[in-house]
Amino acid sequence: MMKSNVAEILKSGTVLQEIALKGWVRTFRSNRFIALNDGSTINNIQCVIDFENTSEETLKRITTGAAISIKGTLAESQGKGQSVEVQVSEIEILGDSNPDEYPIQPKKHSFEFLRENAHLRVRTNTFSAVMRVRSKLSFAVHKYFQDNGFNYVNTPIVTGSDAEGAGEMFRVTSFEDNKAPVTEDGKIDYSKDFFGKETNLTVSGQLEAETYAMALGKVYTFGPTFRAENSNTTRHLAEFWMIEPEVAFMDLDGNMDLAEDFIKSVLGYVLENCKDDLAFLDQRLTQEESKLPQAQRGEMSLLEKLKFVADNNFKRVSYTEAIDILRNSKPNKKKKFQYPIDKWGADLQSEHERFLVEKHFKCPVILFDYPADIKAFYMRLNEDGKTVRAMDVLFPGIGEMVGGAQREERYDVLVEKMKAMNIDEKELWWYLDLRKFGTAVHSGFGLGFERLVQFTTGMGNIRDVIPFPRTPQNAEF
Ligand code: 4AD
Ligand code: MG
Repeated sequence: MMKSNVAEILKSGTVLQEIALKGWVRTFRSNRFIALNDGSTINNIQCVIDFENTSEETLKRITTGAAISIKGTLAESQGKGQSVEVQVSEIEILGDSNPDEYPIQPKKHSFEFLRENAHLRVRTNTFSAVMRVRSKLSFAVHKYFQDNGFNYVNTPIVTGSDAEGAGEMFRVTSFEDNKAPVTEDGKIDYSKDFFGKETNLTVSGQLEAETYAMALGKVYTFGPTFRAENSNTTRHLAEFWMIEPEVAFMDLDGNMDLAEDFIKSVLGYVLENCKDDLAFLDQRLTQEESKLPQAQRGEMSLLEKLKFVADNNFKRVSYTEAIDILRNSKPNKKKKFQYPIDKWGADLQSEHERFLVEKHFKCPVILFDYPADIKAFYMRLNEDGKTVRAMDVLFPGIGEMVGGAQREERYDVLVEKMKAMNIDEKELWWYLDLRKFGTAVHSGFGLGFERLVQFTTGMGNIRDVIPFPRTPQNAEF
């Protein structure tokens, strides 16, 4: 059978076969050698033109970015850097690309520049590698859960509830004649709205996923999630994809086991199935780091890091133990954290989380049993009355990768907690029903997919691991 893409052709390596390919020109040199890329792999295939028998007109139109179709024979290559090449017998220009206007030149572009060209940046090596790895990771996510008896559940995007109680929601309203309905004092009138009450984009599908876990046993969501937090950081997006497994009859220990096994398994999958792209990204990072002073370079290469995480146990530490470690640590030359930890109960800042994973334990860390006051209402209260069965999985270079908990399954305790945190029982009557009818221990977590892609690809900025990043003041597309 005729091989249909560059990845398959390079893998097959058989020479002297007739092939036909369509793709885009990456470079064209000496009026002879086209580096062709069709998106199936990071590797270009060299296509050698018989320029004496090719018209001037066609040769001129072979420019970076042009779409072409070629036919020819696969042959052993004499040149360096590739084992096979295509001896072209027929070439057709499918779509021209004016070199004076095309923004993606065969040179190094800054990521800032490429972000402004989000529609074209996937034509570069780095972004195409990242996006292929992202795609394989999504598949690995589904594969892991499907292989382990989980049901995929789709929770609402448009919703009346605020699952996290953090008030970071995008409001959704319907418009008549391009105007939102307003009250007499000029505020948006949600009672006239589509749902007859204030409506938002989901910040988490957890509460709805819980309802399904309490019937199907093991479920997971994997979908878009929205947070209107105004954080201009390298780890926050306004629209990101969250993976949320939820399991009945599973306690916090089981939840930690699940999170760890899941992450190791998907990393193992991409290590096995994205070898070329990861090797490219590994090299890219090593080159970048070689420009930094020795002290700022990572101790491991990207591939070493991925293998290390896939093969070694995460460290599990309670919040209270972590606070003790932080209090007794000298994090840097100044020997102080910017936000000193002076009392039990304070929320950890990212400098603390990073210190624990990057300097102290030097491996992913699962922190558990956080103070009740800094965590969400639905987390199960411990016997001590002041901590909850929460867990965060912290990763080197990333910080929080996962947030999860054993859920409060006791009706009375949950109602008390909601009262104390000013959460309307009437709004969440359906959530309370789960505690009235056949309640049971259950747990789950949320993993930010882009943070996982960031860790896997070694990209420094979360905006560079999602095709069209949504961040404050930025929605060109
Ligand atoms: O810790 P979070 O807020 O937890 C929840 O939403 C729970 N309801 C999840 C659950 O138990 N089912 O968010 C979970 C994860 C974080 O650990 C982080 O990885 C990611 O979602 N995340 C973000 N990723 C990118 N941009 C943002 N603005 C994010 N906010 C959270
Ligand atoms: Mg969290």
